[in-house]
Amino acid sequence: MVERPDHRQTLLVRSGLDAHGTDSPLSPPIYQSTVYQFGSLDDLEAAFTEPSKRSVYYRNGTPNGRVLEELLSRLEGGEAAVCTASGMAAVYAALLAVLGPGDHLLADWRVYGGTYALLVHDLPKQGIEVSLVDLQDREAREQALRPTTRAVFAESLSNPLMNVLDLPELVAWSSPLGLAVVVDNSFATPALFRPLEWGAGLVVHSLPKYLSGHSSAMGGVVIGGAAQCQRVRDQVIRVGATLGPFDAWMALQGIRTLELRMQRHSQNALTLARWLSTHPAVQSVHYPLLPSHPQIELAKQLFPQGAGGMLALDLGSRGRVDRAVRKLVGRIPLAPSLADVATTLTYPAGTSHRALSPEQRAAQGIGDGLIRLSVGLEWVEDVARDLLAGLQ
Ligand SMILES: Cc1ncc(COP(=O)(O)O)c(C=O)c1O
Repeated sequence: MVERPDHRQTLLVRSGLDAHGTDSPLSPPIYQSTVYQFGSLDDLEAAFTEPSKRSVYYRNGTPNGRVLEELLSRLEGGEAAVCTASGMAAVYAALLAVLGPGDHLLADWRVYGGTYALLVHDLPKQGIEVSLVDLQDREAREQALRPTTRAVFAESLSNPLMNVLDLPELVAWSSPLGLAVVVDNSFATPALFRPLEWGAGLVVHSLPKYLSGHSSAMGGVVIGGAAQCQRVRDQVIRVGATLGPFDAWMALQGIRTLELRMQRHSQNALTLARWLSTHPAVQSVHYPLLPSHPQIELAKQLFPQGAGGMLALDLGSRGRVDRAVRKLVGRIPLAPSLADVATTLTYPAGTSHRALSPEQRAAQGIGDGLIRLSVGLEWVEDVARDLLAGLQ
């Protein structure tokens, strides 16, 4: 009988457990050491030549980071993974692995504001030109294409308006052109969508989002082919953007429940999105599986198990948002991140997208009345009750 590989759920729940064999703690230890010992020069040499397997010095990678890398690489279906100190470090290292001086990047204009700032301010300093376009619009893509274009970058579910990336279409267009496709999969996670299976070349994540599921660990990860990940690792070691062992350990504690969390986040978000769409104080709701979402058919095709826990709602003005935020104190906190097990909300115009001018935000549909809700795992009727109080 051919043995079937473990289901993703099993892989997740058991991750980190068998790293040390028998007579070992159930929860893996934290390797809080900046340096490791060697018995001979040959041993030292071997450790340097296998940085994804052996530890030499903290900046070159840690045992806790390696457990996470192995797991994430399997979850996304990559050959390798490299953990980084933050999601932004992962985005930067991934792009530098596929782009060099003189190259041009086509990036979706809806990307997270921090990524937007990196693309606009830092890549040009490396001699990399960037065009921010609506990557969903084939004509816009073709107009922006240059002989030097080498890569495209987009988020699988965009922040904050939950635009669904038509990755099969983008890959079909970019493959004959030889472009590397880099996808930020932080909002979707491999529990709901695996970009490498749809033909992307590299995937990045911000770890404090759904992969961890709590707001206690920082970090990022790049996943993809072995050669490109090696370039990412070299870059991360050179600039010192290595993930710390405690953050890697904390992320591992959270990721073990990823599958179940994403199911519940998705159910709760869909229920609330439907309910909010009927509320008179709400002008519009953005969630991929709502009939009002322009990409509902694509969302059903690419996200058959649910579209995650993020949704956006428009209250029409900053004043209305501020009144709602004040009423929600102690129930649904205003906290400029996402993906915690508890529901939180944020104000994109004043947080994630503050680097954009009001005109740029308006062009993307991010108005002064927009709230982004990160729907948690609570009993959904309790969240609805709290929101009702906030919206009154
Ligand atoms: C979609 C997305 N990608 C990347 C990042 C950056 O990650 P980090 O804050 O871990 O650097 C964020 C942060 O909010 C994000 O929302």
